[in-house]
Amino acid sequence: MKLVLLGPPGAGKGTQAANLAKEYKIPAISTGHIIRTAISEKTPVGKIAEEFIKRGELVPDDTVVELVKVRLAEDDCKNGYILDGFPRTLAQAEIMDETSIGVDLVLDIDVPDEKLVERLSGRRECKKCGAAYHVLYNPTKNGETCDKCGGELVMRSDDVPEVILKRLEVYHKQTEPLKEYYTKQGKLTSIQGQKDLAETTRMVLDAVKEAGAKL
Ligand code: AP5
Repeated sequence: MKLVLLGPPGAGKGTQAANLAKEYKIPAISTGHIIRTAISEKTPVGKIAEEFIKRGELVPDDTVVELVKVRLAEDDCKNGYILDGFPRTLAQAEIMDETSIGVDLVLDIDVPDEKLVERLSGRRECKKCGAAYHVLYNPTKNGETCDKCGGELVMRSDDVPEVILKRLEVYHKQTEPLKEYYTKQGKLTSIQGQKDLAETTRMVLDAVKEAGAKL
């Protein structure tokens, strides 16, 4: 299955991508995580991306598309993948349709803006593997390190109020139009993602199972 997760910052795309990856045994690929790794490794792409991320803006389409193509060429993607945070503009979606980056199904996780600020402010992310936790809603076992890999937990530099508001504005303007794009292609399934984690996870797994069965 080739699945795209769509939704605003903090909707739970990363959290649910991890659950779906476990369920379907396919890799979850977060463009945000790939870009943050490039920034911390100070690669040429990381240097281009850093200023955009700091401002809460999207990284240029051609840069992101190249990163995705390289990642999808890896062996673990041959039976499918979950794209978390890509595509995020109409141009990226059109490039996907024109090239070999296929998509079977798009799951949109819808959450009102008011909830997202609280979620993002309390998020802690593993510096090593990118796993997302929340100080109240999804704490790690010892509150200090990642349950999966023991990595250090950090607050993301773009999880501060002024950048969060910019990211939400960018989402509504540049990414939300993708819902109509994929509705027209008959690929979009939406769920409400404001329930607690266990309930949202159940809804996500049910929605993907049901939509996937029709493929
Ligand atoms: P990216 O890392 O993709 O960030 P984002 O889309 O803003 O999404 P987030 O990672 O913030 O949220 P999420 O939906 O994954 O939520 P999570 O599961 O963590 O991108 C960062 C930047 O990179 C972009 O701003 C852009 O600059 C650049 N970029 C990336 N892709 C790009 C692209 N394709 N094109 C151009 N630029 C690109 O959950 C959030 C928190 O809520 C966590 O603490 C979690 O534990 C908690 N939580 C989750 N679900 C629930 C629930 N149901 N109840 C309570 N708490 C919950």
